[in-house]
Amino acid sequence: MNIIVVGGGGREHAIIKKLKENPAAETIYALPGNGGIAADAVCVPEIGARDIDAIVDFAASHAIDFAVVAPDDPLALGCVDRLHAIGIPCFGPDAKAARIEASKVFAKGLMKKYHIPTARYEVFDDPAKALDYLRGASFPIVIKADGLALGKGVLIPQTLSEAEAAVRTIMEDRAFGDSGNEIVIEEFLTGPEVSVLAFTDGTAIVPMVSSMDHKRAGDGDTGLNTGGMGTVAPNPCYTPEIARACMDTIFLPTLAAMRAEGCPFKGCLYFGLMLTPDGPKVIEYNCRFGDPETQVVLPLLKTDLLTVMQAVENGTLADMNVEWSDGAAACVILASGGYPGHYEKGKPITLPDALPGNVTVYHAGDALADGQLVTSGGRVLGVTAAAPTLKEALRDAYAAAESVEFEGKYLRHDIGRRALAALAD
Ligand code: AMP
Ligand code: GLY
Repeated sequence: MNIIVVGGGGREHAIIKKLKENPAAETIYALPGNGGIAADAVCVPEIGARDIDAIVDFAASHAIDFAVVAPDDPLALGCVDRLHAIGIPCFGPDAKAARIEASKVFAKGLMKKYHIPTARYEVFDDPAKALDYLRGASFPIVIKADGLALGKGVLIPQTLSEAEAAVRTIMEDRAFGDSGNEIVIEEFLTGPEVSVLAFTDGTAIVPMVSSMDHKRAGDGDTGLNTGGMGTVAPNPCYTPEIARACMDTIFLPTLAAMRAEGCPFKGCLYFGLMLTPDGPKVIEYNCRFGDPETQVVLPLLKTDLLTVMQAVENGTLADMNVEWSDGAAACVILASGGYPGHYEKGKPITLPDALPGNVTVYHAGDALADGQLVTSGGRVLGVTAAAPTLKEALRDAYAAAESVEFEGKYLRHDIGRRALAALAD
């Protein structure tokens, strides 16, 4: 089989490494891929993940049998619709279903209509009305741009004046472009956060091992929000009882709601949950695998990924027995100094000659320059270790992270600390 994977980050590298385990996967093309992915797939750097016309042309001319569209942008732009139109089976939702991530107004409306637990909220398209509403609100409060904003469209002002500034930033200065035409203002919730990625063919759902992201740049959850500085799986806060409650009150109702709205969701649905004192609530949906959640979840998948993805596309997921390893995994992100602000690129990367068998380095933001791997993005590498326990996984991931070098390498030193504390409770 010839397969294309759209995207070029650590998540896509993790997907590609797993797809390669199936001997039927002959050639895997990564569009665009990156410097490190080139060791595992044929990268096509000239085709970006948003260049839908070029992706479709490439698929049509390379006898592609299956496509995995991993990032949010091409999904929202209808990449799967276009590939289906030329007869190529895909893993990923169509554009209508991808609205569950691409429009927060759509997602919140869905949850309200179908009684899926989430933060109470109001929608505004007029900054004056939003400012009026905020004058009577309590703080902190959460303000979200409607559309995709590279994970940065959520602001949590602590005071009225910060909130006024946030509305102006999104709606008047248009910091997130058209994504800020509408905003959601919602209640601030508290509790541990859990990421649950799930395979679904629209009717059947198979939740993956739960995980915990670490979004802030600095140790102790300080500093700016990032795409994610590290992850652990499973998430110890997500007990079997909570998992059962989520299935009944959130997962199955969400699938039913999408079917009832005429846009059944097929692919990986990501539930960003908060375990509040009033029970689990949805913070956000993503229409795709999380990054860097995928880098700890897929290493624990025992069943063949390609087979599961084909069952999702064929609507036969209910017939599959998807198995997970009992162990744990930890991923430590190595970022360029300065990320998520300004950072330099082009720094040569040195990887150790050999890594322990339970460690994998997923390449996120690097490129090949005259055969040498150099940094090319904010998040450069994700160092993952899988082990029988979380403690061992963290130890091995950090040991390997120390053995990788590039100028300006930045990492958090407390990935998994909260998870270990929760395990000790
Ligand atoms: P999102 O981009 O929707 O994942 O939001 C980014 C982060 O903002 C989440 O991971 C939460 O930590 C936080 N957040 C979003 N919505 C809320 C909320 N209603 N209450 C508290 N924190 C929130
Ligand atoms: N790690 C969060 C996300 O993928 O959106």
